[in-house]
Amino acid sequence: MFLWGTATASYQIEGAVDEDGRGPSIWDTFSHEPGRTRDGHTGDVACDHYHRWPEDVALMAEAGLNAYRFSIAWPRILPFGRGPANPAGLDFYDRLVDALCEKGITPVPTLFHWDLPQALEDEGGWLNREISGYFADYVAVVAERLSDRVRTWITLNEPFVHMVYGYGLGMHAPGRMLFLDALPVAHHQLLGHGLAVQALRAGGAERVMISNNCTPVWPASDSPEDLAAADAYDTLHNRLFNDPILTGAYPDLSAYGRPELDFVRTGDLEIIAQPLDGLGINYYNPTRITRPGEPAPGSGGLPFEFAAITDYPTTAFGWPVVPDGLRELLESLKATYGPALPPIYITENGCSYDGIDDQERIAYLDGHIAAVRAAEGVDVRGYFVWSLLDNFEWAEGYHQRFGLVHVDFETQKRTPKASYYWLKDLISSQSTEAQSAEKAQSTET
Ligand code: BGC
Ligand code: BGC
Repeated sequence: MFLWGTATASYQIEGAVDEDGRGPSIWDTFSHEPGRTRDGHTGDVACDHYHRWPEDVALMAEAGLNAYRFSIAWPRILPFGRGPANPAGLDFYDRLVDALCEKGITPVPTLFHWDLPQALEDEGGWLNREISGYFADYVAVVAERLSDRVRTWITLNEPFVHMVYGYGLGMHAPGRMLFLDALPVAHHQLLGHGLAVQALRAGGAERVMISNNCTPVWPASDSPEDLAAADAYDTLHNRLFNDPILTGAYPDLSAYGRPELDFVRTGDLEIIAQPLDGLGINYYNPTRITRPGEPAPGSGGLPFEFAAITDYPTTAFGWPVVPDGLRELLESLKATYGPALPPIYITENGCSYDGIDDQERIAYLDGHIAAVRAAEGVDVRGYFVWSLLDNFEWAEGYHQRFGLVHVDFETQKRTPKASYYWLKDLISSQSTEAQSAEKAQSTET
């Protein structure tokens, strides 16, 4: 069964940050620091999904969606990151999973979507190797409670974005600006992923994957300098996170002056490279890269620079709309990894636009779904729209609206947009097609 879903994340929708024993996360801390988010927005209330989840589940059921990717807030389960579990936190996800199953919606929880318990940040966050093990312990607690109903799991969301924005550039929590010294964060997340895979398997999981943010990298020209810069960026954004998982080896980071990776210990890569049942791909847009100019002071000098993509329409966020980039990405993953590439699930794809009559979002989704179909020889088994609801868009606060459903953040009123009804029609025509194909097949035989 092809999975048609939407995706959300705990801190972006739940609110209720100090209810029922939830501990503080790094996003609570960060968003309350002056100047960190646009207009000082925080996730304190967000979409109030913690209280309104029955309405949100009903919206999904009404659209005919058969899967839902959400994330579990580690600080709801283990308020201080480790130690005793908080039963009320487990109960919340337990009820949500029950409600989804009752409506025939496959729950697809992500175990980490950036809201690290603050207590673990106080021990160094993902710079501290120990966090990988604490992550696996937390995952085991969740699996024990939910794995009788949850068969499909995602370990991490976008370890690249968490490392670069959170620890490299300071634009996301925990707000560190370490540039390339953030690299151990990649490894410790990937090690945590591997240990979590083991914990999930031990708990009886059937389908385990990770969601990586991937981008096709376009060199600004065919000059050797631009090609080398593009290759360096591809290494950092895509291959640093896909290679170890799919091939058991890190790509060559000598373009960054870091060939040694001294934080990798014997045996780590075996843990990281365990077989997966799927690879989650989050795609938004391609990236154009040019040779580096003068390094910004303190940046340590990177072997690439971003170049604007100006020849395409853009979303309200200013991101270029390039549906064919998704086809390009999928085909290049297949070319790079061959038989080592597991089935693909598009675990995020979407765009920010204002308004309820969101024809631009319809065009975006239509184009990207067509691009998935056009990708040759790639086994894609699911597609999740980011996002069900307008929500807390991290450093952008409530300014960027990615939802199929509009949220009035004053009243919490949900209003399905034109794209919601469009997707509903698409899914129902798909299932009618699938049914008649099945019928035709059974009359043939
Ligand atoms: C993240 C989401 C985010 C979306 C849009 C992805 O990188 O996983 O949390 O809201 O992009 O920026
Ligand atoms: C946004 C994040 C997003 C990231 C990568 C940032 O500008 O704030 O939400 O995940 O870009 O796409």
